[in-house]
Amino acid sequence: MPFNHNDHYHPLLLDQLPPGPGIALDVGCGTGRFARRLAATGMAVEALDVSAAMVEAASGLGSPGPGKIVYRQADVTTDDLPEQHYDYISCLASLHHVPFGTVAKLRRALVPGGVLVVLTPARPSGPRDWLRELAAVPANALARLVVYAGERLNGGGDDGPQAPTLSRFPAIGEVRRDAARLLPGSTVRPLLFWRTLITYREPEDDHPL
Ligand SMILES: C[S@@+](CC[C@H](N)C(=O)[O-])C[C@H]1O[C@@H](n2cnc3c(N)ncnc32)[C@H](O)[C@@H]1O
Repeated sequence: MPFNHNDHYHPLLLDQLPPGPGIALDVGCGTGRFARRLAATGMAVEALDVSAAMVEAASGLGSPGPGKIVYRQADVTTDDLPEQHYDYISCLASLHHVPFGTVAKLRRALVPGGVLVVLTPARPSGPRDWLRELAAVPANALARLVVYAGERLNGGGDDGPQAPTLSRFPAIGEVRRDAARLLPGSTVRPLLFWRTLITYREPEDDHPL
């Protein structure tokens, strides 16, 4: 695919990084494209995926450094994540593969001040969402053309393994409702290319020792 909607939003997701290098967890890492971008910022990255094939493919691509990446095969719904451990947790196009309530576990895994970002496909809930979806069609065609031309000029694109996808998505209204319940204070922002961004920051400890 010449234009990847998840990858397009990597810079936006990196904008939400808390200060300092810290520890990151990428959930449903696929072939590790975002994990490698996190490592490039200096973060120590844990990247997990339920698919053994994805973990193998991602591990084979290593880390650009300076941050180290540890890949492991795990189901996020059953894995024993450490509590108050991660400065940044990302889920790119993976949360809709599991019950939304999984975010409660991810929230517990954040240190005070830590950030959880969820980039998820979501169905339109109202007229504004439908208008955005329509506007995305010509923008997407143009972006695909530009990326395709760039790849041709640079001698081809990435034909590596593709992560498993799922075409059952929540509606944007459901995402808003569930995020308000389970991630109080989070923001939910529908984006142009059929994605919605949830950003949650775990409150700082009010009574440090
Ligand atoms: C659409 S892919 C997205 C991959 C990657 N995040 C990206 O942006 O390219 C969804 C990924 O979530 C993984 N996944 C699905 N269910 C999972 C689970 N329960 N625990 C961990 N990973 C899971 C899939 O194996 C797949 O690699």
